[in-house]
Amino acid sequence: MQLFASRCKSERKTIGLVPTMGYLHSGHMSLVKNSKNISDYTVVSIFVNPTQFAPNEDYNQYPRDIERDVKLLFEQGVDAVFIPDPETIYPKNYQTYVEVENISKILEGKTRPIHFRGVATIVSILFNCVKPDYAFFGQKDAQQCAVIKQMVNDLKLDVEIKICPLIRENDGLALSSRNIFLSEQERKDALVLNKSLQTGKEFIGKGERKASIILKEMEKLIASISSSQLDYVQIVDVESYSVQEELKDGTEYYLLVACKIGKTRLIDNIIVKA
Ligand code: PAF
Repeated sequence: MQLFASRCKSERKTIGLVPTMGYLHSGHMSLVKNSKNISDYTVVSIFVNPTQFAPNEDYNQYPRDIERDVKLLFEQGVDAVFIPDPETIYPKNYQTYVEVENISKILEGKTRPIHFRGVATIVSILFNCVKPDYAFFGQKDAQQCAVIKQMVNDLKLDVEIKICPLIRENDGLALSSRNIFLSEQERKDALVLNKSLQTGKEFIGKGERKASIILKEMEKLIASISSSQLDYVQIVDVESYSVQEELKDGTEYYLLVACKIGKTRLIDNIIVKA
């Protein structure tokens, strides 16, 4: 991979990287399209990264279908697919981790305390292997995007981070590789995540500026679905990713929700201007 990247660089070509954990869906494919639009070469990495899963999480169950993924990617015209082995990425005696401090500790980081350390570490390793000029991430994982941007700024990494819009099914469910774990009924119940975000948006649209009032309405909706188990709803500033109590007119915010439907943990978000 490093040799391929060096060759692209010596030809003065740009490289776009789409890092994934595989089991690709149209959300990933839209990242690929964005990369192909602006990069000379597009590389997609597929690696289910063990260090971002806690022992009680779904590393072993995470869906995998490398053959299908590779076929899809070459049909889309990507130039290289990078599929490293866990032993290559984390050989015996591996000792180095990247920790983005404050932003990794809130929201997702509270429920998943080691998650962003694993993400920041693998993304740094992938950047060193693929040497991308651009790297593409989906807005679906808004906090992951904020962590990676912070890391790139802090470490002065020479890569431009591109955040691409979240992709939904026709009925509003955000695309996620984990959606396959939902039963038919849970798949219907899962629509409550997007519905709660739309409720929050409506309240902001009507002029409500107190986060606690907006969040209470979103919580109420989620509680009405018996298979749901809310982790959090929250409003953060799009730029700083800091939690807000009072919204300011003209500012953009993420409305965020994280919730289990049955046993499957889902996240979703929208950007709203107050
Ligand atoms: O968003 C993902 O799929 C993963 O967190 C990433 C960025 C590929 C790192 O493992």
